[in-house]
Amino acid sequence: MNMMKHFLDIHTTDAAELRHMIDTGLAMKRARGGRPKGAPDDDQPLKGHMVALIFEKPSTRTRVSFDVGVRQMGGETMVLSGKEMQLGHGETIADTARVLSRYVDLIMIRTFEEQTLLEMAEHATVPVINGLTNRTHPCQIMADVMTYEEHRGPIKDRKVVWSGDGNNVFASFAHAAGQFGFDLTFSGPETLNPEAACLDFAAAKGRPVTIERDPFKAMAGADLVVTDTWVSMHDPESAKERRHNQLRAYQVNEHLMSLAKPDSLFMHCLPAHRNDEVTSAVMDGPHSVIFDEAENRLHAQKAVMRWCLGR
Ligand code: CP
Ligand code: NVA
Repeated sequence: MNMMKHFLDIHTTDAAELRHMIDTGLAMKRARGGRPKGAPDDDQPLKGHMVALIFEKPSTRTRVSFDVGVRQMGGETMVLSGKEMQLGHGETIADTARVLSRYVDLIMIRTFEEQTLLEMAEHATVPVINGLTNRTHPCQIMADVMTYEEHRGPIKDRKVVWSGDGNNVFASFAHAAGQFGFDLTFSGPETLNPEAACLDFAAAKGRPVTIERDPFKAMAGADLVVTDTWVSMHDPESAKERRHNQLRAYQVNEHLMSLAKPDSLFMHCLPAHRNDEVTSAVMDGPHSVIFDEAENRLHAQKAVMRWCLGR
């Protein structure tokens, strides 16, 4: 029986299966028991499997964590840059998907338009994983949920506050609020509001996102404070100055963190622009779990890949 499944987004994946992936990722992390990164897992579910990692945008964490994760599970990878593929020179996404499916067992793609991901998934006969689009970043938020739970227990009913741009990473947080059942507050300027669709999803799942323009008020009772870059990879460079002016009031600094719960955590998907969206004092301070969060990309995605392959 073909058990293959795509991992395209948090809102399009069954909530119980998402929960299972988080628990599997944590169990796999524990089972490694801190062995060297290059050492194989005891379990080798990707043995004999080839994975294509396609990047149309830059990446450090996604690229390295997928590559290492596949190898730990016994598989092999090839990293492909969109520009160097025929995909960047006129070959259709559908044909690319059909061809790659003859060579590899799994495809991870980081791209611009969501439509590229969806077309890849529609025409591939192997699982496709979303490694970030202009609209969402589901693998990141799987790692974030895992990181919160590793430090503080169940995220259900916790208060998560996002301070900054209503971007792709926020959208996946809104999806996760609906699927994992936590309360999410968006604090940012109206001009940089999140897309309505992700807010509608959370609301339909009984977790309407609170919008609080005042960042100081937003922090009250926060269990987790999150921010991200003020200018994403798909945003035009020309928008930088205006975005900085609009978002300056939402910088996560020690004063803002002091308004959250005393045992609150701070997360950022990275890369961060130190002293823009977050100060170094917060990034390196007692609330920050940013490097555990980065590490957990590896463990969460290993669970996602297993799920995709039905293993
Ligand atoms: N957080 C994240 O996706 O990082 P990279 O852009 O380095 O992959
Ligand atoms: N919002 C950022 C996330 C980077 C991991 C971007 O899309 O550039």
